[in-house]
Amino acid sequence: MTAVARRTGRSRPANALRDPRLPRPPRRIPLLGDVLTFRGEEPTQSAADYANHLGPIYEFTFLGARYVVAVGADIVTDLNDEKRFCKHLGPEMVALRIMAGDGLFTAYNDEPNWQLAHTLLMPAFTQAAMRRYHPVMVDVADELVAAWDAHARGGTAVDVSAETTRVTLETIGRCAAGHSFGAFRSTTTQPFVEHMVAALRGSDKLGVFRKTYLPRIVADIYERTVRKHSAYLHDVADRIIAARRAEGLGHHDDLLEIMLTPDADGRPVLSEANIRYQLINFLVAGHETTSGALSFALYFLSRNPDVFARARAEVDEVWGDARRPEFEQIAKLRYVRRVLDESLRLAPTVPGYYREARQDTVLAGRYPIRRGEWVLALTAGLHRDPRWTGPGLKPVDEFDPDRFAPEHLKARAGNLYKPFGTGERSCIGRQFALHEAVLVLGTLIRRYDLVADPGYTLAVAERLTLMPKGFLLMPLRR
Ligand code: HEM
Repeated sequence: MTAVARRTGRSRPANALRDPRLPRPPRRIPLLGDVLTFRGEEPTQSAADYANHLGPIYEFTFLGARYVVAVGADIVTDLNDEKRFCKHLGPEMVALRIMAGDGLFTAYNDEPNWQLAHTLLMPAFTQAAMRRYHPVMVDVADELVAAWDAHARGGTAVDVSAETTRVTLETIGRCAAGHSFGAFRSTTTQPFVEHMVAALRGSDKLGVFRKTYLPRIVADIYERTVRKHSAYLHDVADRIIAARRAEGLGHHDDLLEIMLTPDADGRPVLSEANIRYQLINFLVAGHETTSGALSFALYFLSRNPDVFARARAEVDEVWGDARRPEFEQIAKLRYVRRVLDESLRLAPTVPGYYREARQDTVLAGRYPIRRGEWVLALTAGLHRDPRWTGPGLKPVDEFDPDRFAPEHLKARAGNLYKPFGTGERSCIGRQFALHEAVLVLGTLIRRYDLVADPGYTLAVAERLTLMPKGFLLMPLRR
């Protein structure tokens, strides 16, 4: 029985939707499947490319592991219907549970700890909570600026994804758990990030190889890798928790404090193991994604000088001479926010999510799907639906923040935009990410001209999330 079937007590193991009419890639080899055309190092880009030839929904197989992918806007919209579909943990997410256990991101829908933690932690993501995180976010952005100033003085380029990783990891560490990773004390990659990337990449492989025909020994190799790197991350989380306990409760107003505070009867709300997993979930989901979003936004800004100029004019007008922006001044950067929204449309750092049928039903009026069967929904089609363009707007493949101007937003169906997932399992950290990312973008836009190598062609690295690869910027003080 698969892990899903065991958890949910279902009698049938979870399978990808079975329908003989689903198109499949050409040049499939018996038993081996689509190994000639599937690019294992960039699975979601490979899957999105298939859609160009195979249409809105199709299947592919890799050494016996079978996936069904939906890209068409109508099909993905139907999958987003919470009454008939729910989140599914795809193979790589099941593998990720070695690292992240039953934390919010990787919990099964019916695990009691999901509802318990969701209810408990929602107050850590309100507007009032954002107001508390704001000064910490500004402090970390200042550290980023100090580092970029050194590059500007020395005339050296910054590796954008590495820099955005530093700022977002440090921010989530301090905001969620009062923990500094010291991300700006050295220029080398944080050990936390190295182990996390290795665990994410390993989970990707482990998830797939567990589903293939290959002997178990192959998956075991990846499992050992994931366990080794997860052990490091668990140790970091345990030490953060131990430090907080040693300091005593009552000095912080953050996520860790909420999790460690006992209930009215003095009993712990979450178990020790679950607190560790939640912390890992937040440290990972809370920086990797925002880092990618910031990196893509900086890429688009560097390629669109007119957009950059408008964004800078806005920051100058709203922030004026203030050294540190106030909390209220972040939401007033409406054009910068549109830049971010548009980046997440064209380059969603979480390119999709799995959806599972709650009951036997018919998907998009055409494909019968049985309870428990699942489909990987990619947002690429939704985000490039023809409804994204219109009078005065650029074609859907081009970068145009004005798509998010109020008049266009109002005129367009709201369900075409899903960078933060859908339904009750959508992103709990959305407001956190938006506040942080607009603040960081505003800070950089105000201070630097961003010069990119004109010969650079966008390449995207995949490690569960997407990130520009090898993208360098030369920050010049204005
Ligand atoms: C631009 C940044 C971000 C993007 C694009 C993003 C995207 C997503 C997506 C697509 C999901 C749903 C995944 C699924 O259905 O399988 C999700 C869930 C989640 N995200 Fe984010 N996220 C971002 C930032 C953050 C931040 C900053 C945090 C924490 C501070 C966070 C914490 C989580 C958690 C805990 C979940 C699981 C929620 C649940 O199932 O209850 N995310 N995110």
